[in-house]
Amino acid sequence: MGKTRTIKNICCIGAGYVGGPTMAIIAQKCPHVKVTVVDLNEQRIADWNDADLDKLPIYEPGLAEVVAESRNRNLFFSTDVDKAIDEAEMIFISVNTPTKTYGVGKGMAADLKHIELCARQIARVSKDDKIIVEKSTLPVRTAEALRTILTSTGNHVNFQVLSSPEFLAEGTAVADLHNPDRVLIGGDEDAAGKKAIDALVEVYENWVPHEKIITTRVWSSELSKLTANAFLAQRVSSINAISALCEKTGADVDEISKAIGTDSRIGAKFLKSSVGFGGSCFQKDILNLVYLCQHFNLPEVATYWEQVIKMNDYQKHRFAKKIIDTLFNTVSGKKIAFLGWAFKKDTNDTRESATIYVADELLQDRAEIHIYDPKVTEEQIFVDLKYLQTNRIGKYVEQGEMMSMDEIRSLVTVHSDPYSAMQSAHAIAILTEWDEFKSYDWQKVYSEMLKPAFVFDGRNIISKEDLEELGFQVYNIGKG
Ligand code: UDX
Ligand code: UDX
Repeated sequence: MGKTRTIKNICCIGAGYVGGPTMAIIAQKCPHVKVTVVDLNEQRIADWNDADLDKLPIYEPGLAEVVAESRNRNLFFSTDVDKAIDEAEMIFISVNTPTKTYGVGKGMAADLKHIELCARQIARVSKDDKIIVEKSTLPVRTAEALRTILTSTGNHVNFQVLSSPEFLAEGTAVADLHNPDRVLIGGDEDAAGKKAIDALVEVYENWVPHEKIITTRVWSSELSKLTANAFLAQRVSSINAISALCEKTGADVDEISKAIGTDSRIGAKFLKSSVGFGGSCFQKDILNLVYLCQHFNLPEVATYWEQVIKMNDYQKHRFAKKIIDTLFNTVSGKKIAFLGWAFKKDTNDTRESATIYVADELLQDRAEIHIYDPKVTEEQIFVDLKYLQTNRIGKYVEQGEMMSMDEIRSLVTVHSDPYSAMQSAHAIAILTEWDEFKSYDWQKVYSEMLKPAFVFDGRNIISKEDLEELGFQVYNIGKG
């Protein structure tokens, strides 16, 4: 089959949280490769090209510096999708694959319409052989579907389809990409498939040690990504389940995490009890796994994984209910300050953030919510609240009523200063673990709040004892 084809021109379709950072690092580490990231969203591309690096569409520590190093050298952002496809030898697909909100598999299956459109466009435009790399998290056997579209509508050019799921976590994307635990590449087992795998291995070997690059068959790679996310989410739901028991019995969930995490078989990571996991991947990928299991008639396996999501819904609901119960069974007309809206610290991403669901339950009870988040825009917060009104797929939120945007706007205020958000509040809810929350002047906050002054720490980031000493009434996750 000849020697490995050295890739000199890469295109990535989708300039989002995965495509943008991943391509920025490839361009940084492979200055001999031209990398073009394309997107249908013109504003997003304009933002990636903005001379002011604070305007990049994605906030990730260290990303602006990486982009500055390679942009317009060998890293380009463009809306000319056809041209980028035509020129590239290797095309990454990194478009979003949300949960379907309509038709067959509604609320569970991945919506592959964007992927399908990409495949059709690639097939239409390509004039020479190309390697297609699935970067988006996809249901098992999507590569097969991609291949079918490419080969049946293409101009008789040869396509190899690889699966190389991305494991970066938001907030630490640059560090994760620079120094990944592993890179996974799935491809066909025949000679042409192996050659395509080798071409991608060669790209990664510019900075990733050879032994960290794992090659598998395509389906194993696709299923490994879903399995990794399901296991990680399961750990969070498991410790959150224990947190409910801790609150009833007087144990401390953080002490338990430490005690079990020192067992090397269990490991210390992903044992932080919280208001619930969020992010674009965990829920979507588990729903996907559940759908796959149902499709292959494995109801016991489907039910097992579904429980991870139910526990997460329960945790968000439990937190909201705790606030309402503690505030004498109603939050109507009460000012509740929210610290944090992003689904975790160090990102401006809010997709599936537990905060949105907590807000929704309090709004159902007519609370006045005052929000501060260091990186999330006001516009995004209202988009999230609107989205929830139109897509009520969670278990507990289903019970709520639809609210008009006018009603929501009359109850929600977004602040750019944390102290104004907390001034005269009945209670504060900490929903994201941003570091800056720890260094606030809590004495000042206390003196400016209504009494009794309640803090509901959904991330256990501030010392309960310190706050109690100042006079606050404190509720923590998993502390009895
Ligand atoms: C997405 C998926 O959510 C995740 O499962 C997968 O692993 C990687 O891709 P993310 O990068 O976070 O993650 O999504 P998002 O930030 O929404 O970016 C996707 C981009 O693709 C958007 O900018 C969108 O405009 C673009 N897009 C979508 C296209 O350019 N063409 C399309 O047909 C569809
Ligand atoms: C996840 C996977 O970690 C990553 O490998 C994959 O590529 C995409 O999905 P991400 O969603 O960006 O990454 O962030 P992650 O750090 O995994 O956190 C997910 C959610 O779980 C967040 O809401 C976080 O706050 C929560 N979490 C995480 C906890 O509540 N407790 C923990 O101990 C860890």
